Amino acid sequence: MSLFKTTKELEQQARDGKFGLGAFNTNNLEITKSIAAAIKEESSPAIIAVTPSAMKYAGSRQITNIVRTAVEESGIKVALHLDHGTTVADCVECLKQGFSSVMIDGSKLPFEENIAMVNEVVKLAKPLGISVEAELGRIFGAEEQIVVTEREASFTDPKQAAEFVERTGIDSLAVSIGNAHGFYKGRPELDFDRLKEIQEQTDALLVLHGASGIPEEDVRKAIEIGITKVNIDTEIRDAFRRGVTDFIQDNPQVIDPRKILKPAMEEMTEVVKRKISIFMSGGKAK
Ligand code: G3H
Ligand code: ZN
Repeated sequence: MSLFKTTKELEQQARDGKFGLGAFNTNNLEITKSIAAAIKEESSPAIIAVTPSAMKYAGSRQITNIVRTAVEESGIKVALHLDHGTTVADCVECLKQGFSSVMIDGSKLPFEENIAMVNEVVKLAKPLGISVEAELGRIFGAEEQIVVTEREASFTDPKQAAEFVERTGIDSLAVSIGNAHGFYKGRPELDFDRLKEIQEQTDALLVLHGASGIPEEDVRKAIEIGITKVNIDTEIRDAFRRGVTDFIQDNPQVIDPRKILKPAMEEMTEVVKRKISIFMSGGKAK
């Protein structure tokens, strides 16, 4: 039996319990331990996510084992998820490593090509009980220079979303409703009416990417309308950077990496705990 929870079970629990399920990105030992500490302290169900570039950095087996050991040692209830896989091969590697779910991101492709690639992954993952997330519409980086009309044209179309879900059989759908990856320049403006329409048009579980920097009340509103999974990466990275920089500035003579990284780990744990409280998932681990 797998140590990991299935993503579908956790997402379903979040939907039924009307709370958000945090998906927190990791790429090394310290980030994983910091996320695990927060999840354990808050008794929260959660997803730990790795991207293909994180797998390249840490080694896919290595990072899987780091997460696996954290789960084993702390008894936390988490699913392990591939975030923004862009090829079928990315997904196959994660199926081999025992992930709970994979995201196949064909959002840059034309509609029919996106469907075809997602279908290939669904065909491989579903018989193994591994759930699949895909993206329709495009979520840009907040730092990308995009004119407003282009950004709006990239938003998820609710009717097309229904067709996309029906023709692929995916479990979860990543939506583009004004959310972006990275730091937002101003206050992000989410299109809640569009989110509501998407929610009405499809049964798929809905995912909010780029949730770092989205104000607490907007995240809560999105969860109320129907978002079940909320992705956080940038704020964790920022906490890491802040912890390391402050420590080195105050203690230029220290060279022990364990001492340098400790405050960064505490900062990351605090970020994850804060998110868990916004998502209202604390105390819900089963
Ligand atoms: O897939 C990962 C996320 O969408 C994270 O977005 O870096 O803006 O928190 P973020
Ligand atoms: Zn994302």
